Amino acid sequence: MNSEYANNTLTHDDVARLAVLVKPYLTEKRYVHTLAVAKEAERLGEIYLPDKINELKAAALLHDITKKDDLKKQLHYCEKFGIIVKEFDHLSPKVFHARTAACLAEQDFASFVNEEIINGIRWHTTGRFGMTNFESIIYLADYIEETRDFEDCVLLRNYFYGKIDDGEDKTVALIDTMIYSFDLTIGNLIKEGALIDDDTIGARNYYLIKRSETE
Ligand SMILES: [Fe+2]
Repeated sequence: MNSEYANNTLTHDDVARLAVLVKPYLTEKRYVHTLAVAKEAERLGEIYLPDKINELKAAALLHDITKKDDLKKQLHYCEKFGIIVKEFDHLSPKVFHARTAACLAEQDFASFVNEEIINGIRWHTTGRFGMTNFESIIYLADYIEETRDFEDCVLLRNYFYGKIDDGEDKTVALIDTMIYSFDLTIGNLIKEGALIDDDTIGARNYYLIKRSETE
């Protein structure tokens, strides 16, 4: 990934144009999901980052642009963009698309992205230690958007909005929701006998530390 980014700020019209431009990168079903993530990112952005709504929506629109690509194509992108592939990455192929989407977004949508948007895309699947509110919003929007009907997604959505509706401190609500999401994800990976990405452990530790600082 380039170390130099344009310092793009986006307008409502930019986001509307981007919503059309990303369509060919997505299956029909994933396009519906993508629009729902953008809507959810806006909702969360109104609570946490009201001055970055357009940038959050852009990250949401771009977060899955390589999701339909198979492992061979993912590896092709890795080689092309210089993404380091770790020895056991092929055992958790789902983690590729976040890295490759971040690079492809930078290449194909250069005028729509900035560093924050790229990082929102990059970390939307695993999270990471020290993740920002922007990154957390994209991660969470992907998990709880309104078309998601998996039990854990519904649980997490109700958990978060339950806290907000109860007037819980919004920072604590986000921290607790992030911890709960990692607990659900890690629990599922254990049940499936799947690898747990180091960054997911790091993200959970990060939010546990943040939680202890609020007490
Ligand atoms: Fe997604």
